Amino acid sequence: MKRLFLCVALVIALPGLWNTGLANAASKPGQQASAPQTPPSATTGAPGYVGSDTCITCHAEVGKSFANNPHSKLALTHSGKGITCESCHGPGQAHVEGGGDITKIFLPSKASAKETDATCMGCHAGVHPNFDRSPHAEAGLSCISCHSVHAAQTEESLLKLPQPALCFSCHTDVKGAFNMPFHHPVLEGVVKCSDCHDVHGTFQRNQLRVTADQNVVCVKCHTDVRGPFVYEHAVVKAEGCVACHTPHGSQNARLLNMPTISTLCNQCHSQVSADTIHGMGEGSQTVTPCISCHTMIHGSNLNAAFIR
Ligand code: HEC
Ligand code: HEC
Ligand code: HEC
Ligand code: HEC
Ligand code: HEC
Ligand code: HEC
Ligand code: HEC
Ligand code: HEC
Ligand code: HEC
Ligand code: HEC
Repeated sequence: MKRLFLCVALVIALPGLWNTGLANAASKPGQQASAPQTPPSATTGAPGYVGSDTCITCHAEVGKSFANNPHSKLALTHSGKGITCESCHGPGQAHVEGGGDITKIFLPSKASAKETDATCMGCHAGVHPNFDRSPHAEAGLSCISCHSVHAAQTEESLLKLPQPALCFSCHTDVKGAFNMPFHHPVLEGVVKCSDCHDVHGTFQRNQLRVTADQNVVCVKCHTDVRGPFVYEHAVVKAEGCVACHTPHGSQNARLLNMPTISTLCNQCHSQVSADTIHGMGEGSQTVTPCISCHTMIHGSNLNAAFIR
């Protein structure tokens, strides 16, 4: 938890520092480059732009590693005249003429989260339209809290660290759950945090993903409990899988919220226990777990009490 707070403090404090830097620079006009305004439509011919070939004459190392970057595809746009470096760093002519004047070029890692996000969203808004109102954006994270354009550790998605290490670098408190006796195999690399969460923001609580038909994400993998059933267990649709399961990890088999089946069911069904079949002999709920009779607990096509 401490680490998380530290991270939060950092992500909030850092943009603050740079903001101060920007404010200072603003008092000396023309000293600080701001977020690029012209791309994504600009081409190498546009005024103020010099093209990546020029950048690479001085930034050879960056240029070399950039060949495999998905952003190198930008060069292919506009019949091969699309700009690459300057679509994120802004027009570079003044920077070049100043012999590499760093106040005349935009560097996302020195800018505020807002400016950085605006730069990236200039092209990626279609994919991640909800980022601005996500808990991550609200906490002051920006795209480059998780992504790195030039120093990514994963080829796919340009992440700073692979999952789940990336997530645990801030969410240390969540890690313990995946070491519990019963857990989703995330540390084993079978399931990823992003299988269930879309960290770019969703309309669900806890940034949970939904499936294409707006179902809870869980049934994407657990298709057998998906339904629809003739007889639905109303709670599955109303409260979701977490009404009975702890998604990350649990002390209890089947990731259940409660150590025994009867306590789990009796949270909502306490009144049935004394009645009818439940009060009699081997039907007693104290001896027999509810699911030994109510086997189709997620829903049934044959029986309203999920007996079969
Ligand atoms: C004439 C050589 C030269 C050219 C051409 C050049 N740069 Fe630079 N650039 C530099 C130097 C020198 C620095 C400062 C390096 C340092 O401090 O390590 C720099 C720094 C930068 C920085 C970091 C700024 C910061 O605030 O730390 C970025 C980003 C950058 N250049 C991008 C570009 C881009 C994009 C282009 C092409 C439009 C380009 N450069 C072309 C020489 C050049
Ligand atoms: C998709 C956006 C994007 C493109 C395209 C891009 N950069 Fe960057 N650049 C960044 C970001 C973001 C950073 C901050 C560090 C990071 O995330 O890797 C950065 C940092 C830098 C730096 C500072 C040194 C460093 O690594 O921190 C230099 C120099 C630089 N870029 C040069 C270039 C050159 C040259 C090109 C073209 C070959 C280019 N960039 C293309 C986004 C971009
Ligand atoms: C909290 C960490 C985090 C933040 C903040 C973040 N991303 Fe991501 N991003 C990821 C992870 C993890 C993946 C890979 C899994 C996935 O697709 O969700 C990813 C995947 C992507 C992809 C490739 C897959 C796709 O959906 O097209 C793009 C593009 C992307 N992010 C852009 C952005 C942009 C732009 C921002 C800022 C507006 C941003 N990301 C902010 C973690 C993050
Ligand atoms: C000028 C448009 C443009 C800008 C600005 C831009 N991107 Fe991209 N981005 C692209 C294109 C084009 C691709 C390649 C898409 C593909 O391969 O289909 C890409 C790919 C990516 C991917 C990898 C997607 C994958 O499937 O692996 C990530 C992550 C990403 N961008 C993040 C960022 C971040 C972070 C920023 C801001 C620092 C940014 N982009 C700025 C156009 C842009
Ligand atoms: C740079 C730090 C950082 C990284 C990296 C990061 N997060 Fe977060 N995350 C936060 C902060 C800060 C919040 C908002 C405060 C909170 O709810 O803890 C948050 C919120 C969340 C939430 C929403 C919690 C809620 O209460 O709604 C989820 C889910 C989440 N993150 C998952 C992830 C996943 C999955 C990854 C890895 C792909 C990840 N995060 C990477 C810092 C980070
Ligand atoms: C099997 C799906 C699944 C996977 C995999 C998963 N989560 Fe979650 N996560 C959930 C669900 C569902 C919730 C909401 C729990 C609730 O409502 O009680 C949640 C809640 C959260 C929260 C907010 C509440 C809390 O416990 O702090 C964070 C943060 C979070 N997850 C981070 C992560 C990270 C980091 C990973 C990967 C290491 C991850 N999750 C993997 C399904 C998943
Ligand atoms: C990306 C696929 C995936 C998603 C999404 C997913 N799971 Fe799982 N789930 C798995 C895998 C893999 C296992 C481990 C199976 C094993 O060990 O045999 C598992 C195990 C389980 C188990 C234990 C099963 C047993 O036989 O002990 C339960 C319960 C469960 N998941 C519920 C959920 C819930 C609830 C969600 C949504 C919050 C969810 N799952 C989302 C893949 C997924
Ligand atoms: C009313 C409580 C309840 C809800 C809600 C619930 N489950 Fe279950 N689930 C159980 C019980 C009890 C078991 C244990 C069955 C057993 O041990 O035979 C179980 C077992 C499982 C298993 C293990 C394999 C199997 O099919 O028996 C998976 C996977 C699973 N649930 C996924 C889900 C998913 C996904 C959701 C949401 C769509 C969900 N559950 C909603 C009570 C529930
Ligand atoms: C979080 C609350 C909740 C939990 C936990 C829960 N249920 Fe339910 N259950 C409901 C609701 C709500 C209904 C729908 C009641 C209705 O339609 O009157 C229902 C309906 C049923 C029905 C059908 C009742 C009827 O009148 O047809 C059976 C049988 C049942 N549940 C058994 C179980 C068993 C066994 C468990 C434990 C594995 C369980 N439930 C756990 C909320 C819950
Ligand atoms: C020995 C088998 C058995 C056990 C154990 C059992 N039930 Fe039942 N239950 C039944 C039968 C049979 C019915 C009546 C089905 C019908 O009407 O078709 C029923 C009906 C129900 C109903 C529907 C409403 C009602 O009262 O008729 C609920 C709710 C229910 N059971 C919950 C539970 C819960 C909760 C447990 C565990 C605490 C449990 N049952 C244990 C066999 C069992």
